[in-house]
Amino acid sequence: MSIIQDLEQMRDEAVGAIDTATDLSALDAVRVAYLGKKGSLTSILRGLGALSAEERPAVGKVSNEVRQSLEAALGARHAVLDAAAMQAKVSADAVDVSLPGRRRLPGREHLIEQIRREVIDVFIGIGYRIAEGPQVELDYYNFEALNQPADHPARGLADTFYVRDLSGDEAAVTGESDVLLRTHTSPVQVRVMESEKPPIYVLAPGKVYRRDVADPSHLPQFTQIEGLVVDEGITFADLKGTLDHLCKEIFGHDRRTRFRPHFFPFTEPSAEVDVSCGICAGEGCRFCGGTGWLEILGCGMVDPNVFGYVGIDPERYSGFAFGMGVERIAALKYDLPDLRMLVEGDMRFLRQF
Ligand code: PHE
Repeated sequence: MSIIQDLEQMRDEAVGAIDTATDLSALDAVRVAYLGKKGSLTSILRGLGALSAEERPAVGKVSNEVRQSLEAALGARHAVLDAAAMQAKVSADAVDVSLPGRRRLPGREHLIEQIRREVIDVFIGIGYRIAEGPQVELDYYNFEALNQPADHPARGLADTFYVRDLSGDEAAVTGESDVLLRTHTSPVQVRVMESEKPPIYVLAPGKVYRRDVADPSHLPQFTQIEGLVVDEGITFADLKGTLDHLCKEIFGHDRRTRFRPHFFPFTEPSAEVDVSCGICAGEGCRFCGGTGWLEILGCGMVDPNVFGYVGIDPERYSGFAFGMGVERIAALKYDLPDLRMLVEGDMRFLRQF
C-alpha cells in the first residue's frame, strides 16, 4: 500500500475519532494521538526524508492537506464540545426562580395566652399588678378562708381533685386530704390580703382544676383570671365601672354589660356579668340562646367574713373581686363551638388566630 493511501486512511480514522469524541479531554487525546510529538501523522512526516525526490512533493502535499483537515475537524469539534460544556455548567448552576419558596412557620402565642395577655394589659393599664399563688393549694385557702368551711353546702367535694400523700403514711392515705388542686384562682385573694395591706389592686391569672369530664363547655384544667381590689370607699359602682371597661376593651366598645344577682360564699352581694351578644347585638339569636346576652364572669363585693380571716378591718375597708374563665372568653370572642378545640393542639385550628 502506498504511503498516500496510508495517509488518507489515517485521516479518515482520525476524523471519525474526532467526530465521536464526547468531551474536550477525549478530543484532546485524539489530537495528541495523531498530531502530538509521537502522533501518527508526525511520525509519517518524519519519514518524508527517506522518500525519493520524485515521491516527496506529492506525499508532502497530501500530508499537509491531511494535517489541515484534521486541524479543521478538531477546531469544529472543539467549538461544539466547548459550547455543550458551557451549556451543562449553566444549567447545573441555574436557579429556578419560579420554584415556590420554602415557607417558614414562625411560632406564635396560643389563643389562650393571647386572651390572657389582653386581659392583663387592660388591668395593668389602670394600675393593677400581677399576683400569683400555687396550683397545689391548701383547703384553707381554696375554701375555708373564702367563707366556705368544711360543712358548707356550697363546697363542691365532688368537683375537687384532692392530693394524697402516697409515701406510705397510712393516715395520709386513708384520711381526708387538706391538699388539693385549686378549683379557682380565688385562693390568691386570701394569700394577697394575708401578706399585704390595702390599697390592693391585683390581678391573678393561672391554671385551675375541676373534676369535670371534658365536653363542649367544660375542661378539667382551664385558666382563670382573678381580680381583687381592697381600698377605702370601694363600692359596687366601682366594680361595675371596672368590669364594663374590661368588656368593652376585650369585646368592643359597642358591647353592653349587665349584672345579674348571684351567689358566691366569698362575696356579698354577688353577681354574674353578661356581655351583650356580638352576633345579634342583644336581639336574641342561636349563639346567645335567644337571650341577647352571654355570661362571662362572676364577681361581688368582698364578704366581711373573708376580711375576718385575713385581719382587714371591714369598717375601714371595702373591696370587690371577680373571676373569669379565659377559655370561655376566647370561645365567646371567636364563636368557638367547643372549648376542647383550645387544648387539642390541632394546627389547622390554631393557625387561624
Ligand atoms: N371563683 C369564682 C368561680 O370560680 C369566681 C369569682 C371570683 C366570683 C371572685 C366572685 C369573685 O366561679
